Amino acid sequence: MNTRETLKINAKGHLEIGGADCTELAARFGTPLYVFDEKHIRNMIAVYRDTLREEYEGNGLILYASKAFCCEAMHTIAKQEGIGIDVVSGGELYTARKAGFPPQKIYMHGNNKLPHEIREGVDAGIGCFVVDAKIEADRIEAEAAARGRVQNVLLRVNPGVEAHTHAYVQTAAPDSKFGFSVAGGAAEEMTKYLLTKKHLRLRGFHCHIGSQIFEKKSFVLAAEKMLKFMADMKKKLGFEAEELNLGGGFGIWYSAEDRKIPAAGYREDIAALLATVKSGCAEYGLKRPFLLLEPGRSIVGEAGITLYTVGAIKEIPGIRKYLAVDGGMFENPRFCLYQSKYTAILANRAGETPTEPVAIAGKCCESGDLIGVNLLLPKAEPGDLLAVLSTGAYNYSMASNYNRNPIPPAVLVRDGQAEYIVRPQSYEDLVRNDAVPEFLK
Ligand code: LLP
Repeated sequence: MNTRETLKINAKGHLEIGGADCTELAARFGTPLYVFDEKHIRNMIAVYRDTLREEYEGNGLILYASKAFCCEAMHTIAKQEGIGIDVVSGGELYTARKAGFPPQKIYMHGNNKLPHEIREGVDAGIGCFVVDAKIEADRIEAEAAARGRVQNVLLRVNPGVEAHTHAYVQTAAPDSKFGFSVAGGAAEEMTKYLLTKKHLRLRGFHCHIGSQIFEKKSFVLAAEKMLKFMADMKKKLGFEAEELNLGGGFGIWYSAEDRKIPAAGYREDIAALLATVKSGCAEYGLKRPFLLLEPGRSIVGEAGITLYTVGAIKEIPGIRKYLAVDGGMFENPRFCLYQSKYTAILANRAGETPTEPVAIAGKCCESGDLIGVNLLLPKAEPGDLLAVLSTGAYNYSMASNYNRNPIPPAVLVRDGQAEYIVRPQSYEDLVRNDAVPEFLK
């Protein structure tokens, strides 16, 4: 269920993902190519869903965080597995609607939901908005009122928990654009405000303390703070929350610096979080809320790899060796953004022992366009097939057309069979929205 089960080296010494030989995938679909193992995705969804069922009487819902990897096939899998999703834009909502996702199981996030996104969400009949600003509450109220409806909402609360992860993906520190702080009373004020709205039904609270977190303590602490806040709101305002959403954030394995968590490890961490909620409810005399978790990375991250063809190789004696590949920051900007660490394998010579550290460079006109530095590989040659592991989350979803490079396609593998889930972009796709005004002609 972790990378070790998704990937293996076959008798030919080739890397396999989900039973498909990577050299055959590259020959059929070309490179760069995002590849996802369906079984891994479904297994990880099951870990969350089943732990909630077994450890919390099923009184809740797992929401897949679409932002990690969003396309119709991914939403189709989430729908088939019976979980919900969170969306953070009109585009993600549109994708979910195209996949026929049940609107009631869609939660909409965002720190600045645009008026048209709010309208689209209300029109679609989505289950819940997670309110992150007063102006949003007013706009949702107006849209619901115009349709004679009452819209469920949660309030995004900042519990003030510092999670140990990269600063850019930390969202509940005191200085954050997200949520209403418990400290200082902003969250209480906003709770009061939401309770005055006739066309909003405040179901409860949401928090998300960050991403790629391994510290179980951080999640537990956030849950404790949220329960304390719920108890305060009950005491002060007579408002008892029916729902608690504890966000996403569980870390995955990228490189030797990370722990490789087996399915049982995730189960244990989720169970610990649920136990905190149960004991907190008992301590404060609260009824157990309907509980939501929003995993993204841990569902799809290790399910995905990216395949590249090695091209130019440049060695600067005593300094560094660069292997340039046919991808780069346009399809994986995470090293540029967060100095993220990855593990790479020569997929056509996967049995060989890694002997030298290399920097993997992209093809963009920018010195910082790297996928990683100091990755250990056997001595590579132009034409070798390179696989970068754990690229399933926040790679395709953060891709761009920088340098007018087409965004690579994605395929889903089931028992050795692969099909497109995102088709390749053509050059024509790149110019599709270009316009040349008459006055230029
Ligand atoms: N819920 C909310 C409200 C979130 O903001 C996020 C992630 C999640 C759930 C899912 O968290 P996950 O389980 O995936 O950690 N681009 C960055 C990650 C940004 C995460 C943003 N929010 C990266 O590539 O590492």
